[in-house]
Amino acid sequence: MNHRLLVTGGAGFIGSNFVHHWCRTYPNDQVVVLDALTYAGNRCNLAALEGRENFRFVQGNICDRAVIDQILQTENIDTIAHFAAESHVDRSILGPSAFVQTNVVGTFTLLEAFRQHWEVTLKPDYYRFLHVSTDEVYGSLGPNDPPFTETTSYAPNSPYSASKAGSDHLVRSYYHTYRLPAIITNCSNNYGPYQFPEKLIPLMCINALIGKQLPVYGDGKNVRDWLYVGDHCTALDRVIHFGIPGETYNIGGNNEVENITLVQMLCLLMDELAPSLLVRPTSDLITFVKDRPGHDRRYAINATKMKTHLGWSPSVTIQEGLRLTVEWYLHHRDWWEPLLSDEYQAYYQKIYS
Ligand code: NAD
Ligand code: TYD
Repeated sequence: MNHRLLVTGGAGFIGSNFVHHWCRTYPNDQVVVLDALTYAGNRCNLAALEGRENFRFVQGNICDRAVIDQILQTENIDTIAHFAAESHVDRSILGPSAFVQTNVVGTFTLLEAFRQHWEVTLKPDYYRFLHVSTDEVYGSLGPNDPPFTETTSYAPNSPYSASKAGSDHLVRSYYHTYRLPAIITNCSNNYGPYQFPEKLIPLMCINALIGKQLPVYGDGKNVRDWLYVGDHCTALDRVIHFGIPGETYNIGGNNEVENITLVQMLCLLMDELAPSLLVRPTSDLITFVKDRPGHDRRYAINATKMKTHLGWSPSVTIQEGLRLTVEWYLHHRDWWEPLLSDEYQAYYQKIYS
């Protein structure tokens, strides 16, 4: 059957990759993007889809019930893929308020609107609410702890992860209370095209290209489990089509790497692939800086359930994914240069000065 999707946050990093994946794979489905276009949202990410009959972009806020109701009814939406969020830990430390508003209140508003829409349309069994969340809700692992599973207790440590945890709990409660067909995914760190340059990998790529320091927090030994964004999109596709309402699925890259090792890998790729660099070798730019407050030491995902229940596992190795990503940032200067705005410079000063 053809689906009619509402993708919130579809102009952001993962959301836009997902929209491209969906429109390419299911050209007969209807896709509506709702995005507030905050600093992290960029309509250029969707430029290739503008004007197509099966695609529509709406600029609006997920806290605005009227705009959501209007889209759900007029577009006859059956599936929500909910990506919209404030997503950066460092910004949540500087100003947590927007995180509570968008991540908690926004998700609640969306759930209420979708519940009403689902009830009015007589609760079709193919409706889905996919809530895209993070592994950060589980807190921090010690060096020898087993990776997070779907039953690991929640222990969020930053305002970002606490607000995502709050939204997860709301989604869970809507399934248990109202049987709203909702599914939660908790994913590890993503990387790839269209990622805003506040996050580790694009920040390092762009700083290397403009000859700026590569700031590594603390001792650089924090560990993240990196997942190529294309693999995340295929995982979410499986979850929408075959996932069971009320279930949670952990999605990970099976790629645990210390930050300093990752940055060194990026430097080697830059040295190999960039024709002109202001500083070479790029690793000369690596600078250890003051640690992030409350910095979680290690995240790692056990994605066995995705493999055994939904037949998904990641296909891109970290070496392949980093090469693709470095090449993308090298060839898309026109995409990232405008993002280094006065607002970005002011943010950068606050975090790194
Ligand atoms: P992003 O910051 O790149 O994009 C977020 C998008 O949401 C932007 O387009 C922004 O304009 C939009 N948005 C923000 N507030 C909004 C509001 N109130 N109303 C409507 N739109 C709004 O984020 P991302 O990295 O693409 O993350 C997408 C989702 O995936 C988030 O929910 C995040 O928690 C989750 N996630 C991200 C990662 C990661 O590594 N990036 C890992 C796990 C989970
Ligand atoms: P980030 O991309 O912000 O994702 P998250 O905090 O959600 O995991 O950071 C990834 C890791 O890189 C994290 O351990 C913090 C670290 N980091 C740096 O060392 N320097 C930086 O400039 C940034 C942005 C992150």
